[in-house]
Amino acid sequence: MRLNGKHILLMIGGGIAAYKTLELVRLIRKEGGKVTCILTKAGSEFVTPLSLASLSGQKVYQDLFSLTDETEMGHIELSRAADLVVVAPATADLMAKAAQGLANDLASTTLLATDKRVLMAPAMNVRMWLHPATQRNVTQLHADGITLIGPDEGAMACGEFGPGRMAEPAAILEAALAQLGAQPTVAQGHSLAGRHVLITSGPTHEPIDPVRYIANRSSGKQGHAIARAAARAGARVTLISGPVTLPDPPGVTVIHVEEARAMLRAVQQALPADVAIFCAAVADWRVQAAGDQKIKKDQAGPPSLALAENPDILATIAQAHTMRPPLVIGFAAETEHVIDYAQAKRKKKQCDWIVANDVSPGSGVMGGDQNAVHLIRDNGVTSWPVMDKSSVAEALIAEIAAALHPSS
Ligand code: PMT
Repeated sequence: MRLNGKHILLMIGGGIAAYKTLELVRLIRKEGGKVTCILTKAGSEFVTPLSLASLSGQKVYQDLFSLTDETEMGHIELSRAADLVVVAPATADLMAKAAQGLANDLASTTLLATDKRVLMAPAMNVRMWLHPATQRNVTQLHADGITLIGPDEGAMACGEFGPGRMAEPAAILEAALAQLGAQPTVAQGHSLAGRHVLITSGPTHEPIDPVRYIANRSSGKQGHAIARAAARAGARVTLISGPVTLPDPPGVTVIHVEEARAMLRAVQQALPADVAIFCAAVADWRVQAAGDQKIKKDQAGPPSLALAENPDILATIAQAHTMRPPLVIGFAAETEHVIDYAQAKRKKKQCDWIVANDVSPGSGVMGGDQNAVHLIRDNGVTSWPVMDKSSVAEALIAEIAAALHPSS
């Protein structure tokens, strides 16, 4: 009974995957949760209100302008009464409405009015999913702090193959549990109120000449998600970001830099901080003498590039004699012996905690939306399952809040 009385507001959009949502309702109740369903007009073409009402044991809401529904429970109350909002299937249309802030039916209005965490399980035709418009909406939804699970890849009802299938009900349930596990930070709302949290995120670009640079595959998704989670927990957040294509998180002071040395300067200027989290993938080396002009190809053979070591920002701050933040957290990106190498890094750099993740090619962590991390502290290692990067961020912020308020 892992849900133990938690209340999930479940929105069912119009797609063939809606039939799987019936199983999700059953699983939520089996885990001791309460489910209230909002069924969109299109959703009712695939599942009936009667099936949902029978399985959930609750009234099913469908109409924004229903006098009876509004008298029983207004849509604003509906949006606030739950512990978590789950949208499954999240159709391209529902996602677009949520990304744009449109509110022209009960589901979209409730999504706009909610102050609760939102988990979406997209389901649509592969071409609709891959369409730039949908991908723009996905980026926006991530930026707004909405968590997505799936879609899965496979054969689709329309006969095509690719990403677009709704995640399995059991996987959606696990994601919902992860969201609710991370809930305390957000529910307490201001558990980092009055704290200054400094975060680095993204890659650095080290110039070779005015048009070329050395870089890495970091997207900034993990670091930016931590900044969003810290801001949601009430912290004053400074995010020092390398070059990324993500929007600046709302309510966060963002300083944009390109090179490692500029990132170090920006970090030092942003101190003092209560917590510093170093998630950026900082280039270890830069080109010793970057050209002032574009290096011409017509010289004798390819140029040889002498490299110089970049400052280690994490080690510099963790070993500083003045203004060392009370909690310094590094990340460790490893491709083998993940925990052992990360433990060694923690000792060498002298940070308090290190978050280890496996960035080997098949993991899809760098640039992807999910991560599986090991939180390494003095008292041992805690390994979390694969989660959406927003959930990793929420869980990390919850640990930080607990460490700063040991009695709460
Ligand atoms: O950005 P995403 O696509 O979401 O991917 C997230 C991530 C994989 C980049 C992130 O989770 C992560 O692992 N970040 C650390 C990447 C890294 O550079 O790891 P590292 O093991 O090489 O470095 C260890 C620590 O030292 C890191 O905290 C790093 O920020 C820091 N460091 C490294 C070199 C340097 N010159 N200065 C530093 O501060």
